[in-house]
Amino acid sequence: MDYVAWEQRMSVGVDVLDGDHKRLLAMFNGLLAGGVSARAKDDVSGLLGDLRDYTDVHFRREEEWMERAGYPDLESHRAAHRHFVAEVEKLRREFDDSHAVMLRIDLILLLKDWLIDHIQTVDMRYKPFLAGSDVAASGAAPTG
Ligand SMILES: [Fe+2]
Repeated sequence: MDYVAWEQRMSVGVDVLDGDHKRLLAMFNGLLAGGVSARAKDDVSGLLGDLRDYTDVHFRREEEWMERAGYPDLESHRAAHRHFVAEVEKLRREFDDSHAVMLRIDLILLLKDWLIDHIQTVDMRYKPFLAGSDVAASGAAPTG
C-alpha cells in the first residue's frame, strides 16, 4: 500500500509535471514501503541517489515551465527547490553513518514538507500562470 497516494487535487494542470510528482511519490513510497531497515545499505543509498537525481530533473523542468509562462515568483520558488535537492543529498550522505529508523523519519518529514505542502501550496501558485500559457495549452514540454 502506498504511504501517500497522488490525488487529483494535487494536479498542477500540466500532465508532464503531474507525472513527475506521481513518479516522485512512487519513489518515496517504494523507499518507505519496503522498509529501509530491511534492505542492504547500498540499495537504500542507490535509491536515495535516484531520488536526488530525479528531484533535480523534475525541478529543472518545472522551473523551465514557470520561466516560459513568465511566472513572477520564479526566484523564490527556485530557492525552495534548491533547498529540497540539498535535503535529499544530505539524507543520502548522512545515511551511511545513521540509523535506518532515523532515515525513515527524515524521509517522512521530507515527504510531508515537499510533496504534500510544497505541491499543494507553492506549486499551486503557478498553476493559473501555466494554465494560461501557450506551453500548457499545447500540452507539450517546453523545448530548447
Ligand atoms: Fe515546485
